[in-house]
Amino acid sequence: MVAVNICLRVDFFQGEALKKSLREEIAPDGVSKKPLRGEIAPGGALKKPLKGEIAPGGASKKPLRGEKMQSFMELEEQFLVNVYPKRKLTFVRAKGATIWDEVGKAYIDCISGHGVTNLGHGNLKVTQAITEQAQRMINCSNVFYNDSRAKLLEKLIKITPENLTRAFLCNSGAEAVEGALKFSRFTTKKHEFICAAGAFHGRTYGALSATFKKEYREPFAPLVPGFQFAPFNDFEKLEALATGQTAGIMLELIQGEGGIHVCDKEYLQKIQKLCRERNILFIVDEIQTGFGRAGTMFVSEQFGLEPDILCLAKAIANGIPMGAVVCSDKVEVPVGKHGTTSGGNPLACAAASATIDSLLDDDLPKQAAEKGAYFVEKLSHDMPTGIREIRGLGLMLGLELYANNMPAILSCQKKGLLVFPAGSNIIRVFPPLTISYTELDKALAVLREVLSV
Ligand SMILES: Cc1ncc(COP(=O)(O)O)c(C=O)c1O
Repeated sequence: MVAVNICLRVDFFQGEALKKSLREEIAPDGVSKKPLRGEIAPGGALKKPLKGEIAPGGASKKPLRGEKMQSFMELEEQFLVNVYPKRKLTFVRAKGATIWDEVGKAYIDCISGHGVTNLGHGNLKVTQAITEQAQRMINCSNVFYNDSRAKLLEKLIKITPENLTRAFLCNSGAEAVEGALKFSRFTTKKHEFICAAGAFHGRTYGALSATFKKEYREPFAPLVPGFQFAPFNDFEKLEALATGQTAGIMLELIQGEGGIHVCDKEYLQKIQKLCRERNILFIVDEIQTGFGRAGTMFVSEQFGLEPDILCLAKAIANGIPMGAVVCSDKVEVPVGKHGTTSGGNPLACAAASATIDSLLDDDLPKQAAEKGAYFVEKLSHDMPTGIREIRGLGLMLGLELYANNMPAILSCQKKGLLVFPAGSNIIRVFPPLTISYTELDKALAVLREVLSV
């Protein structure tokens, strides 16, 4: 019923209000005001629909009388192999911590694309870097050297833990994890891995084999053999799982998807020591925690860790897809046995370099620590009755509720605040690290209203 209402509303607005909002609002931050050479109309719809029917990205040009224009939502529903539980909103532009739907309603974005847009939307340095690079060169085969790739690699190695000396560049988090697993097997000539209960490392076969949740694993079994899970934060139980065949121990330092659980420092340091003693590689997955999110550039710093392999992605290029497997000298990476066509492409590298520059220039990891502390302090003071516990570091925050999280998440959305779930009773709050205190106060007011039950 809700879906029908929203679709009708969209159809209605696609007449005047949508055209008006696109004409007046989209231009400054994203899509050009005037269609290029009469082809692409603002908002994405082609002026001339292909096959005379549906304009890609949007609605038919002119519905015949009595004919219903297809909304963007309907088009996605018709043509997308959808694997996500969708929310009934269509977003068309964003700036900073604000994101606008197609009828011009503004929302405070405390999702950041699941921890991707750490600099906020439409960061000027990143936009300029992408524009300049796109005009110069987007793709460069990995069998050649490239200026933008070289510059990024140098920056990345400077900001990651000191023992890490080289990186393999790829396109996503799961691909980074796959690389880490393959490099570990190759280096150690062993084949087993230990991960943590509750872990999430991605959806490809190796990454999925390292992921704990049955709902994700079972439909795709059989998975890669040799993966075991130790209870979270329990060193003795983890140590007991190590065998002469253990190639790597892989962990998130703060479990994200698992519900914002922070590992103990002592537990992590014991694991690092065990790895050194037993010729096991210590693989740290900072795909979600990295690039300032949790109050330092990487959480490894806060815990004094020097992993053998660090997996990165998400915020690395503030929204341009990219991943990285950052390795110590211990790691042997075979030439000619692994690869990726678009990994380390100049466009993503330019975006990542600009992202790192912005994080450093504006000391965003420190801002995340301060803003996170402010948020927790404000929310804990006279804590809303619906919250059982607040967890996390920096701006990687989880609010554990007494009740199921989705009704509260949808109430926040109605009031103009976007947050997202972990499990069935945790709300994740991941604003851009650049969010203003005024916006944080607005987000806090909505959460307080919704969670005071
Ligand atoms: C800790 C962690 N590792 C790996 C991944 C997989 O990343 P991607 O979705 O880019 O493949 C995710 C994604 O949420 C993640 O949070």
